[in-house]
Amino acid sequence: MCGIVAYLGPREAYPILIKGLHRLEYRGYDSAGVALLNGGLSVFKTKGRVSDLENFARNENLHATIGIAHTRWATHGEPNSINAHPHYSQSKKLAIIHNGIIENYAVLKKALINRGYHFQSDTDTEVLVNLIEDIQINEKVELEEAVRIALNQVTGAYAMVLLSEDDPDLLIAARKGSPMVIGIGKDEFFVASDATPLVEYTKSVIYLSEEDVAVMRRGEQIHLKNIKNQEKNPYVQALEMDINKLEKGGYEHFMLKEIFEQPSSIRDSMRGRLHAEKGIVSLGGLVDYEQKIAHAKRIIIVACGTSWHAGLVGEYLIEDLARIPVEVEYASEFRYRNPIITEEDVVIAISQSGETADTLAAIALAKEKGATILGICNVVGSSIARVTDAGSYTHAGPEIGVASTKAFTAQVTVLILLALRLAQIRATIPVSRWMELLHELNAIPEKVDKALQCHDQVKKIADEFKDVRNFLYLGRGYNFPVALEGALKLKEISYIHAEGYPAAEMKHGPIALIDKDMPVVFVAPNTGIYDKVVSNIQEVKARNGKVIAIVTEGDETVRKMADYVVEIPATEEMFVSLLATIPLQKLAYHMAILRGCNVDQPRNLAKSVTVE
Ligand code: F6R
Repeated sequence: MCGIVAYLGPREAYPILIKGLHRLEYRGYDSAGVALLNGGLSVFKTKGRVSDLENFARNENLHATIGIAHTRWATHGEPNSINAHPHYSQSKKLAIIHNGIIENYAVLKKALINRGYHFQSDTDTEVLVNLIEDIQINEKVELEEAVRIALNQVTGAYAMVLLSEDDPDLLIAARKGSPMVIGIGKDEFFVASDATPLVEYTKSVIYLSEEDVAVMRRGEQIHLKNIKNQEKNPYVQALEMDINKLEKGGYEHFMLKEIFEQPSSIRDSMRGRLHAEKGIVSLGGLVDYEQKIAHAKRIIIVACGTSWHAGLVGEYLIEDLARIPVEVEYASEFRYRNPIITEEDVVIAISQSGETADTLAAIALAKEKGATILGICNVVGSSIARVTDAGSYTHAGPEIGVASTKAFTAQVTVLILLALRLAQIRATIPVSRWMELLHELNAIPEKVDKALQCHDQVKKIADEFKDVRNFLYLGRGYNFPVALEGALKLKEISYIHAEGYPAAEMKHGPIALIDKDMPVVFVAPNTGIYDKVVSNIQEVKARNGKVIAIVTEGDETVRKMADYVVEIPATEEMFVSLLATIPLQKLAYHMAILRGCNVDQPRNLAKSVTVE
């Protein structure tokens, strides 16, 4: 969702800000803007892409060594240039950028209107900047203090950065519920929603904690306190991020690059954790909690979207291998349905971004009830990684394409490792079988590489079906979450309606949809209850449906029935989702390309969903 970049230092700010906004484009946005301080405070903003902003500002004086910039994903007020950030205060002396939602903005706005303030936009952000100005003027306090007082009056979430015309060497940043990281260079500061805009300038970063206020003044050290006015010592960390991972590296789209990265991202997820020869599985971040998880009464997995699908695979794995009851919950439902949670429960939150508002709220609820909270996150230093008791990073590397691909397979990999470790502790499977699984898991990256070779074949299928309006995805057992994930990928990037279903549920409703125009994707590798899936395929063929089947290489039975088959290498049933997902990611990709869709930034979607 919204992206924030700010700079203060000796360099030209504008190119740094624009490049930073481009780096944050993956988060999803509908308008962009920048404010620069050079004598006066100038704001340039427009609806559309960052490139539209560049065109818009082309002939302006853009020289400045301090500035703030923003990409907005509309919440309050439609996406237009007035609602775009930065927002001026009424006097035009302050400019603010903000990510999050000020929930009590209507009350605050009314009070400000009564005090003579006029508003240009429909945003909650303009309320915040005027509140700060009002406090600064009426209470005659320093700007930093006005920010602190204002933030004590707002409810909701914010990551904000403020500039003041009266103090041209000052940036003030604060956060609550929305992420913010500060890069420290030599006599310079970078601020951003995540580390991607900073990584090429500095590796020294500070992740702001909840309710932190950071004051950055030219020529001085950063000064940190919280909104309760308590001084804090800045904790400077080394940023581990590879700049090459932020570029397309010769691929046409980030999504395609990330699909192809999966053999190595899965390997990275297992690195140092799986030693098949020695019979060792260990998840460093969870070592202190292994016994707690192994003896939990119940594991509750909370997540959203693709991460929720990974959670479903996790449920099958943990119940199958370690025999611990698992429930998988949509974080957005869990948080509002008064769930029964006890201190004996272990809650695992799964999130690529580590910033998903609903997942964070679900964690807060479970924490309140005394459960142990663990995280499986991709983004290092993200909010979820920081609020959980312990966790395991997926190490998939930055995922820029909005549609999650390599993060999903990395999440599943971590869940496999966890299930195997729990099975070992609980001695729920024979050692010989456990060792067999370890060796097979070790071979998975190579098999993923092989599964990736389906490129041309899938392209042909996409060409055949690119104009259809509906798709059905069916699978059973471990392949059911894969069917859900395949359908989600297709709908989010190609805008074709697609539904995922457990194959056997088809006859309880969706079978009514089947006719000659209905393509049905069967995730049908030769594992588990394969024979039953074969029967389901026959039911579709009997009604003239078009069958596209993902099968194990060498499969002859389904090949005879299906209209199209895509082969994946043979593997253990428990690991099949890591392979079967690959052709479905590719199918969605090619369909979207053929339909002329923006694959990396699909309409209306955001990479990091920081509002509920
Ligand atoms: C789908 C997708 C979303 C995310 C969901 C959760 O491709 O990207 O469904 O999976 O928004 O996001 P995280 O994993 O960041 O919590």
